[in-house]
Amino acid sequence: MATLQAIKYSRGKLLVLDQLRLPHEHHYDEVSTAEEAFDCIRSMRVRGAPAIAIVAALAHAVELHNGSCTATTPEDTIAYIESRLDFLKESRPTAVDLSNAIALLKLAARAAKLEGLAHPEAKEAILNSYIEAAENILAKDLENNTSIGSFGAAWLQQQFDASPDRRISVLTHCNTGSLATSGHGTALGIIRTLHARGLLRHAYCTETRPYNQGSRLTSFELVFEGIPATLVTDSMAGALFAQHRERMNIGAVIVGADRVVRNGDTANKIGTYALAVLARHHGIKFVVAAPTTSIDLDTETGAGIKIEERKPEELTQISGAVVNADGSIDPSRTARVAIADQRIAVWNPAFDVTPHALIDAIVTERGTVVKGADGRFDFSQVLPERW
Ligand code: MRU
Repeated sequence: MATLQAIKYSRGKLLVLDQLRLPHEHHYDEVSTAEEAFDCIRSMRVRGAPAIAIVAALAHAVELHNGSCTATTPEDTIAYIESRLDFLKESRPTAVDLSNAIALLKLAARAAKLEGLAHPEAKEAILNSYIEAAENILAKDLENNTSIGSFGAAWLQQQFDASPDRRISVLTHCNTGSLATSGHGTALGIIRTLHARGLLRHAYCTETRPYNQGSRLTSFELVFEGIPATLVTDSMAGALFAQHRERMNIGAVIVGADRVVRNGDTANKIGTYALAVLARHHGIKFVVAAPTTSIDLDTETGAGIKIEERKPEELTQISGAVVNADGSIDPSRTARVAIADQRIAVWNPAFDVTPHALIDAIVTERGTVVKGADGRFDFSQVLPERW
């Protein structure tokens, strides 16, 4: 089956699917410089914690491959690489995948073996070391997501004794699928795996106001893959749980993460926290799916997470394709429409923090972490070398 691909890469060329045009139009932008990547990330043509990191890493690999670095000494080559990465780091602050990728890429550039090499071979060795590390981030992300899918599905199957005769339904928020990653996805990856194993009854996805990643992107992915799914607005989750939990066997809310800190507090798309409160009230498991690249052990609690605030127009305006009188969609005619008084003051945090107390499990590519008797998550089982 064809799969959705947000990022297409071959050495020297990076194409990024413009997610602002989805689901009506599939258009790839060529991203060849750090400036283009910065703009692509900031404008949310690419979004989702892993995808942001991958695009930043690869865009710099492309510009290096194309000769952007004019340095002639190893020190200047490394200084150039680091300054470009520092610039990219400012594109979006909340998702830690980008800073983790940047730290890893800086180490890779410095790890190049330079013994006995002079210019230009020494510079080439540094550039190659960087490019290979960036390409590895792309390859590793796909592997990680497949593992997250398996670990998450296995954990849920255990909790509910789920079987093809007793399948569970789940709700997800925002978009954590192929479009937010290199493929398969994290929270949506678990849903894909549940479906592939015959364990999924139904997936519910929230609209995810104000940016509508759920209605524009997740519902598109679910329909694309033929997964039985229903779209609800964020404000319908409580009624959904109250009225349909038993009949539909709604077992879990599964979300992604932009940053999981040392105590397990998790920053994710705005609205996640409210869903966690509702899930707890209704006895529904609350599961975070995140690669270990989304874990930030340098921050102790959620209070230390910087939350990105975005522009008012995301609430006061909406864009979409024009619907013809016969109900068909004309993707060539898109419109931006005002949906509020444009003078109203707006608060628009892009993310919120769900306290670890409300989270039942954090699924990573190295296993599922649950709280110990002390009520704390212990990430040493999945992050031994960084602990
Ligand atoms: O603002 P976005 O669309 O980048 O927010 C994305 C999310 O909050 C995702 O849930 C998170 O990044 C995980 S994506 C695998």
